[in-house]
Amino acid sequence: MCEHEQKGVTLWFTGLPCSGKSAVADRVAERLKDRGYRVERLDGDIVRRSLTRDLGFSKEDRDENIRRVTFVAKLLTRNDVFVLTSFISPYRDIRDQSRQEIGRFLEVYTKCSLDECMRRDVKGMYKKAIEGKIKEFTGISDPYEEPVDPEILLETDKETLEESTAKVLAKMKDRGYLE
Ligand code: ADX
Repeated sequence: MCEHEQKGVTLWFTGLPCSGKSAVADRVAERLKDRGYRVERLDGDIVRRSLTRDLGFSKEDRDENIRRVTFVAKLLTRNDVFVLTSFISPYRDIRDQSRQEIGRFLEVYTKCSLDECMRRDVKGMYKKAIEGKIKEFTGISDPYEEPVDPEILLETDKETLEESTAKVLAKMKDRGYLE
């Protein structure tokens, strides 16, 4: 383990369910930790069991979810931690607010066709949403607003996990966050 001069930044992963947000964020986090950097992960499925367990999936609740996560990410970022968040965060306006609030912020869009996300259907939720058993499901019965100009565009239906991971690390280096 080596000591680094580390400047904090938040990598904000956004994308459809099953688009690869958590998978890539986990792999990037692993790589950064191996290199001795301080890293925290904030993941939707985990945060929604603790910090935001009272919230559902209306626009108001999703925005509140993102607001609370943004508060935590801001504290960590200003203490020079690398923060990797993975939330669908489907609404552009609240993502832009997070960007303003956090400051050092790189938006990572895990772009993936809906067909491929539905094919992966890791937790069987798309199937349930199509059957009408889950309401307000992103991509099926709820909107996803694509980022207009994300710092990092990952095409997870065309790249391998390794390629996507390398793209994120390359951008961090390019922006001066990595040696
Ligand atoms: S966000 O829209 O508020 O950013 P977040 O990323 O925290 O969403 O949570 C998404 C996770 O909640 C999904 O991985 C899925 O497991 C679960 N989930 C349950 N209901 C829904 C729904 N209606 N739409 C999307 N995800 C849902």
